[in-house]
Amino acid sequence: MTDYTTEHLTIVSHPLVQHKLSIMRDKNTSTASFRRLLREISLLLAYEVTRNLPLTTRRIDTPMMAMDAPAIEGKKLALVSILRAGNGLMDGILELIPAARVGFLGMYRDPETLLPVQYYCKVPENLDERLTIAVDPMLATGNSSVAAIDLLKEKGATNIIFLCLLASPEGVARMKAAHPDVPIVTASLDSHLDDHGYIVPGLGDAGDRMFGTK
Ligand code: URA
Repeated sequence: MTDYTTEHLTIVSHPLVQHKLSIMRDKNTSTASFRRLLREISLLLAYEVTRNLPLTTRRIDTPMMAMDAPAIEGKKLALVSILRAGNGLMDGILELIPAARVGFLGMYRDPETLLPVQYYCKVPENLDERLTIAVDPMLATGNSSVAAIDLLKEKGATNIIFLCLLASPEGVARMKAAHPDVPIVTASLDSHLDDHGYIVPGLGDAGDRMFGTK
C-alpha cells in the first residue's frame, strides 16, 4: 500500500498505522489499549506530517571532524490540540518533537446543531513564523475543524497542517472549501457520517474511548 496524496489530503497507509487503527476501531478494545495505540499511531503520523520541514545546516564537531550537519530551520513548530480528544494525539507527537510549542483550543460540538462552541483558547506566540499543526483525531462534519482553523488564522498562523486519525468525505470537503491552503493528514478516509455526525465505520466517540467516559 502506498500513501494516497493529493495537494489537500494525505492518507498515511503505512501497514503499522493501518494495523493499529483496526485494533482501535474494534469496540472490544480496552481504554488502556486504545490510549497506547493512539500514542503509537501519533508517532507515525508525526513522522509523516513533518516530512517537508525545511532543513538548514549547523556547524558541529563530531569526534572525527567538523561538519555542517542538517538541522530543522526556523522557529519551533506549534502543536495545537483541539480539546479534548486532540490531547491523545498530541501526547505522542510531543514525544517525537519535545521542543514544540503547545496550544489548546477548547471546542465542543452542540449535540443539537452539531455546531462548534468555543470555550478556551491559548496558543503560542509568533504563529506567523511557525508551522502550526492542529490536531484532532476525528474530522467529522468539519464544523469544529473549520472554526479551529479560523481562530488559528485570526491568531496569525499562516502555515497550518491539520492532523487527524479519521476523516469523513464530508469533513474533508468542508475543510477544502473553507481552508484550501490547509493540508490534511489522516490515517483513513472513512465512508460517511451518520445522522448524528459520527464517522462510519469510524471508531465511536474518540474522547470517550480514550478517557473511558460515556
Ligand atoms: N467525534 C468523534 O469522537 N467520533 C466521531 O465519529 C465523530 C466526531
